[in-house]
Amino acid sequence: MQIRAYFEEWSRRPGERVRMAISTTRPEVRAELRRLITGPGAAGECRIGSEAVPGVPVITVAGRIQHSPVGSYARLPLGDGQADGRLSLSCAIWPTLPGKGPQTVWAIAHSGGTLKLVVANGRLSLTHDETLVTSDMPIMARNWYSVVTTVGPDGSALDVYLLKGHTRKREARNEGAGCTIGHPETLMLASTGADASRRAIDCYNGKIDSPRLYSSILSAGQCRELHLTGISKVPPSADWLIGGDWSSGMVKSLIPGVPDGELINGVERGVTGRNWDGRSDSFIETPAQYCALQFHEDDMVDADWSYDLDFTLPETLKSGVYAVKLSAGEETEHYPLFVMGAKTEGAPALFLASTNTYLAYANDHLAGLDFSAVMTHDMVVPHDEKLLFTDPEFGRSCYDTHSDGTPVRYSSRRRPIINVRPGHPNWLTGSYRHFPQDMYLVEWLERSGMGFHIATDEDLHCEGAALLDKYKVIVTSSHPEYWTRDGQDCLDRYLKSGGRLMYLGGNGFYWVTSHDPERPWIIEVRRDNSGTRCWDAPYGERTHVASLEQGGIWKTRGRGPHGLVGVGFASEGWSKGSGYQRLEASYGGPGATFFKGVNEELVGDFGHVLGGAVGDEVDRHDVSLGSPAHAHVLASSTPLGNEYQLVIEEQTLALPDQGGQHKPSQVRSDMIYFTTDNGGAIFSIGSMTFAGALAWNDFNNSIARITTNVLEAFTSELPAE
Ligand SMILES: [Fe+2]
Repeated sequence: MQIRAYFEEWSRRPGERVRMAISTTRPEVRAELRRLITGPGAAGECRIGSEAVPGVPVITVAGRIQHSPVGSYARLPLGDGQADGRLSLSCAIWPTLPGKGPQTVWAIAHSGGTLKLVVANGRLSLTHDETLVTSDMPIMARNWYSVVTTVGPDGSALDVYLLKGHTRKREARNEGAGCTIGHPETLMLASTGADASRRAIDCYNGKIDSPRLYSSILSAGQCRELHLTGISKVPPSADWLIGGDWSSGMVKSLIPGVPDGELINGVERGVTGRNWDGRSDSFIETPAQYCALQFHEDDMVDADWSYDLDFTLPETLKSGVYAVKLSAGEETEHYPLFVMGAKTEGAPALFLASTNTYLAYANDHLAGLDFSAVMTHDMVVPHDEKLLFTDPEFGRSCYDTHSDGTPVRYSSRRRPIINVRPGHPNWLTGSYRHFPQDMYLVEWLERSGMGFHIATDEDLHCEGAALLDKYKVIVTSSHPEYWTRDGQDCLDRYLKSGGRLMYLGGNGFYWVTSHDPERPWIIEVRRDNSGTRCWDAPYGERTHVASLEQGGIWKTRGRGPHGLVGVGFASEGWSKGSGYQRLEASYGGPGATFFKGVNEELVGDFGHVLGGAVGDEVDRHDVSLGSPAHAHVLASSTPLGNEYQLVIEEQTLALPDQGGQHKPSQVRSDMIYFTTDNGGAIFSIGSMTFAGALAWNDFNNSIARITTNVLEAFTSELPAE
């Protein structure tokens, strides 16, 4: 993969400026804006149908290699008021990989060198060019230690105290050589900084709670006081507000004359500290128990490259999915750009690209898991995707864990994203998933001749309800899984005021999601201890710092998808997909309008994705979970295999026989239609692979006919009930 790139903004309006950052080993790259007009075709075809865009010149730019910063750390300048000669530093640490090689817990740069507290091979050492003192306290992963370090010309000491749990050795005080400390200038946490390739040097993995600096040598008694109470009667010369400003990248200084500090490359806040006692699950209630910062050697939230490409979209450009096609030598890459409609313009339909889902899965490492029990096709991981496992500069997804096993809670679009490219294959379905699959829906809209616009989840977050009001019908992607509260509120209001929705996917409206308030290109996902999930929320750490929302699935917040779109997540699997059996409601009333021209009783037993309209993640209508009782259930999936298990959030006991063959009443997908107040209407199909069936046989099939009938009715007159 010789050309990597990303846009400054994923979504733009006509007339707006587009900037793109590129990294390549090639001497030059040719860049051309093209409109994407097709889906990827059959499995393995990886088609990228596009057309030229008049008015935007083809540009050739010089190639260069750009690196992304990897590894998080904090830089805390100490100001001019620090005393020379001697110091003490207290903090508590919760290391996650203490047995690894050297990791810098903290470092003080002073006029005579750098003093460092290092953890390596399960031991803490204080160093200044050479080791001054090593603690004989063994350091174990995921335990809290209070650590007080003192150093001056006459000697140094490392005073370590295990804060919780039972042990035979709770405290250790070791004394060693001293050194002359010049004027302390900066306290670095977790690393001394980045190297030439932007990697954090000797990055520490774990938490650091309440670092405080003192301009004197604390006595053994004063160290003990700090261990037991977390505070000292000796006033610190530098101290910071860690338990507050939860989403900020700055750390406020609490000492006059000491400047504020900065958090670099994804340091996490809102994490439990040394004194978290489990009384509350949120930093909102007990902020003093969340005075910790968390660091990872593989944090990567913003590639922070320089922009190579800079052009303006024509004022008359039609809304749609575009891509910049980058070519160099033999290689060609397409990176998608979503172009909205002009602000004053509307259209019959809006396709809402689920960029929150794209981000949650961006550069996921799921190929490292074993899904063979629920797949019936061979697992073929694309070559590009294998790079994710060797190159940390791609960053991780919210489906992954960090190298220390703690969850990845942030994902950014300001980095090259491998799986958000047209035609990119997916090993889990054996064909396509997410953005590449959504291009089937875009192709269907292109072919429909119906005017349509594109917008993204992020656009909805930024522009609010006014974005939706211009359209008669909103068409979702195949997997609109990650929604913010504001986004849900906008959609709910739109539907209640007469808007219409075609929910053409599966497992939608599921996870609580937030956008960073200062950097909306970053989403936050803190999962729960319920829901179909790839990791558990660490206890006490479910609250989003970006929005103060309690993380988890919307269903457990009383805002599940059943009440919004009539169906909700029921099961998932990746064996052969199935079709829908028509039900009585499809032959009469509004169902007859939608099924006009369809003679089959079984629809969708075909498709480019898993061979059926019903597959991957699927949803069912269930009045007991909030689905409207007045909905017309038009069709329901034919029996799914036992690879499809009932979702874990609907099971309270681990029992066998929870699969599609045993529980067809729960493990199924439903195609439904219902109306809302003021002429609103919703058509939901509850399956991720539906789009692949829509495109089957060049869009000449029963699924395409039904979906087009619905689109036509939703953009004109609804059928009589
Ligand atoms: Fe999903």
